[in-house]
Amino acid sequence: MKQKATFNEVLEEVKQKELIHSYDVIGDIIVIRLHPELESQKEQIAEAFHTFHPKVRTIVAIPLYSHTDALYRTRDFDVIWGDERFETTHKESGCVFNVDLKHVFFSPRLSYERMRVAQKVAPGETIINLFSGVGCFSILIAKTQLQTKIYSVDVNPYAYEYMTKNVALNKVEGQVIPILGDAQTELEKLEGVADRVLMPLPEEAYSFLPAAVKALNPDKVGMIHYYDVSTGNRDDELFNTPIDRVKEVLSSNFGNSLRIEVEEKRIVRSVGPRKYHVVLDLRIAFV
Ligand SMILES: C[S@@+](CC[C@H](N)C(=O)[O-])C[C@H]1O[C@@H](n2cnc3c(N)ncnc32)[C@H](O)[C@@H]1O
Repeated sequence: MKQKATFNEVLEEVKQKELIHSYDVIGDIIVIRLHPELESQKEQIAEAFHTFHPKVRTIVAIPLYSHTDALYRTRDFDVIWGDERFETTHKESGCVFNVDLKHVFFSPRLSYERMRVAQKVAPGETIINLFSGVGCFSILIAKTQLQTKIYSVDVNPYAYEYMTKNVALNKVEGQVIPILGDAQTELEKLEGVADRVLMPLPEEAYSFLPAAVKALNPDKVGMIHYYDVSTGNRDDELFNTPIDRVKEVLSSNFGNSLRIEVEEKRIVRSVGPRKYHVVLDLRIAFV
């Protein structure tokens, strides 16, 4: 009988670092980002991962240059081991998230960022979570800070369906309000209501910024968690382009009627050579 290769034996052969940094365990599914030169060894790699993570039922590979859906941010997967299914339940920071990886975006790599934002929320806040996916930011905020109301908006009907399920699973009904719709249209219906707006769509958040500002309560200082993509070295200059973009978009829409302060800025994750998703926590006051 053929003996299973151990994880280390396989890794020895196939560039340890590359594999180690390029896989996620989501519930009982492992997602591996596979470099083309490892393609021929994918079965051996999958078997070794299973030896290391015996509870996993499915292992999928994302080819390095695979297609990402421009609107829903879902990826193409190949099942390389186990059951042909993409639905699973993932536990994170005391929450449970039911997801179908074929139809919705989900990344465990955002867990630190979700907690960072949740910990900034004060009692009594009204929040708009745009681009909410299956509701991860909204549900974590609701469970971390009980006295909050979170409008949770996504345009993907599958994301809305899973978000609604997850709101019930985490017992935050009434506190998190799932909304199926386009961010721009929904922001227009929520003008002036929010203390805080989350915009976790790095490639396009800037185009929704004016509507997000109008959704803030004009009588208070509001907070926008603004996500963007930036290229450069991992130093302070990386944030110059996103900060300039924010200032440009907001001054052309609001003139000098806003005071904008960057309360915090950080790299959320690396998405390519010298390319990063970054976040700016913007304190916005109407003057
Ligand atoms: C990067 S994912 C965000 C995931 C989520 N914040 C999380 O923590 O898992 C982006 C999401 O934005 C949604 N989206 C993209 N364009 C949108 C739009 N114009 N209006 C509302 N949702 C949109 C996509 O369907 C997708 O679920």
